[in-house]
Amino acid sequence: MCGIVGYIGKGNVAEILLDSLQRLEYRGYDSAGLAIINQKNELVVKKDVGRISNLRNEIFQDFQSHSCTIGIAHTRWATHGGVTKANSHPHCDCKNKIALAHNGIIENYRVLKELLIEKGHVFQSETDTEVLVHLIEEVYKEKKGNLQFAVVEALKLVEGTYGIAVVCTDEPYKIVGARNGSPLIVGIGEGEMFLASDVNAIMPYTKNVVYIEDREIIVIQAEKDDQLKTYDLNYERVSKSVSVIDWDVDAISKGKYETFMLKEIFEQPDSVSTALRGRVVLSEGSVKLGGLNMTEVQVRQINKIIITACGTSWHAGIIGKYLIERFAEIPVEIDYASEFRYRNPIIQEGNVVVVISQSGETADTLEALREAKRKGAKIIGITNVIGSTIARESDGGIYLHAGPEIGVASTKAFTNQVVSLALLAIYIARLKNMPLYEGEKLLKELISIPDKIAEVLNHAEAIKEIAVKYAKVSNFLYLGRGFNYPAALEGALKLKEISYVHAEGYPAAEMKHGPIALIDENMPVVFIAPKDQLYEKIVSNIREVHARNGKIIAVTNGDAANINEFIEDYILVPQTIEEFSPIINVVPLQLLAYYIAREKGLDVDKPRNLAKSVTVE
Ligand code: M6R
Repeated sequence: MCGIVGYIGKGNVAEILLDSLQRLEYRGYDSAGLAIINQKNELVVKKDVGRISNLRNEIFQDFQSHSCTIGIAHTRWATHGGVTKANSHPHCDCKNKIALAHNGIIENYRVLKELLIEKGHVFQSETDTEVLVHLIEEVYKEKKGNLQFAVVEALKLVEGTYGIAVVCTDEPYKIVGARNGSPLIVGIGEGEMFLASDVNAIMPYTKNVVYIEDREIIVIQAEKDDQLKTYDLNYERVSKSVSVIDWDVDAISKGKYETFMLKEIFEQPDSVSTALRGRVVLSEGSVKLGGLNMTEVQVRQINKIIITACGTSWHAGIIGKYLIERFAEIPVEIDYASEFRYRNPIIQEGNVVVVISQSGETADTLEALREAKRKGAKIIGITNVIGSTIARESDGGIYLHAGPEIGVASTKAFTNQVVSLALLAIYIARLKNMPLYEGEKLLKELISIPDKIAEVLNHAEAIKEIAVKYAKVSNFLYLGRGFNYPAALEGALKLKEISYVHAEGYPAAEMKHGPIALIDENMPVVFIAPKDQLYEKIVSNIREVHARNGKIIAVTNGDAANINEFIEDYILVPQTIEEFSPIINVVPLQLLAYYIAREKGLDVDKPRNLAKSVTVE
């Protein structure tokens, strides 16, 4: 959460910082600010609550005329201290010479704050971050002229997580950055340098990126031979290599769509195709997964898999469990990443931990990965963001290849996660027990999924009409069975996230054990009811809701005549096999949530209180 950016170069600093910040806005959008060193060698700090567009208005009255070369900026997702201008970053020292933007949490900030107040420091905000800039000031007093030293020594006193960018008017040609637990990258341009929380921020400017690791300190400046120096906390130089990003700038623009979320929903036929490309070997009924870094013997020896993830990725993980158990016949446990590390997960020889994360930066998931590693597990990371921390810390993995997902509510990453898990399940199964004809049959079905998603998208207008009808309702129930129970959870999460309507996802058969008490004429119930082995059972559940006057919306490819008299609205989806059906069935649920939120006039790309990448625990 929170996005930070830094820039040194001859471009328009304010414009570049704001532009880069805007592309990080999905990391948090409670408030934003920037600090620029002007030609008189003064720090000019501008902040505002709300969106970056507010800040932009303020800045363009003042900054356009300055030709400055260095600045840092921040977009905030509040943790410590309310959403106020004073709590917005960057924060400054007492003399207004040092400015700092921070992503993370300083856990021991209270003790440090008391010590600093005793030494005469005056605080302007309620944030944990502000202690860090005063600590840097304190060290800087002793060893003037060495911002890097001051940052390192201050960081040695701090407990917690950070990705930081620091500038100082006494050294107006450099930005010092550091990382511990919050992502940080450096972009190398032509005579200009960038620092940012992730690559999205700087994509229009450069594709040459250096990933910074935990406990590394960087000093960037624009001079050609000295652009980036990286050190550890003992001042030893660390050598780094430059990676070239292959995402296109178009991938991070809305194109013809009104929002990123809608664009990403409609991209799913393509993104699923990309996830399958080059991986399906039909003639062998098998799958190529180059990045797993496991020998066939090691794969055959897997005796248990533990899947861990958060949010939407966790929902994909449940489907992954069902797929692996059914195809590969290996026991699979699934756990929220935030719970995993605080219990005592039993990890033994032959166990593999699969970590799923779109961003590859989710703090809970990353810490679960590290705990599993400490216990000796082999880690398979399923991530979308290439070079993300989870991707780098995993022993092997599968990239989703969904392209950048900007909308805070995850859509195309989910479908690609399920597809990747299906590929993994088939890959393991074929190395163990699955016959060629079975692998071939499954893969043929899998490659037909993009066209079937496209068919669902053709019904977007009809789904919109249903959404308009229910837009004023304040509670929803989503019910599914088997492989579509996680789809029900995901449908409910989408609605909660973007429309602020209370929604519960439940296994349909569990309804009678409690939630049935909620049902009356005001409760719409979305049934995910594909024609599979559980169809007749779910029809019984539909009848139970109907008998209690609940309003039923059915997502089905079943015989409508069979359920017609009980349902209010239905969304027809194409037929596939039970195991892959949630990949298709989730799409109308995404659209339903989307159109309900739009009907309510809400900002679906940046729902309140949320951030795309949750980098705090
Ligand atoms: O980047 P990750 O997949 O690790 O993110 C996990 C969750 O924070 C994420 O899926 C969240 O639930 C989304 N907002 C769902 O739309």
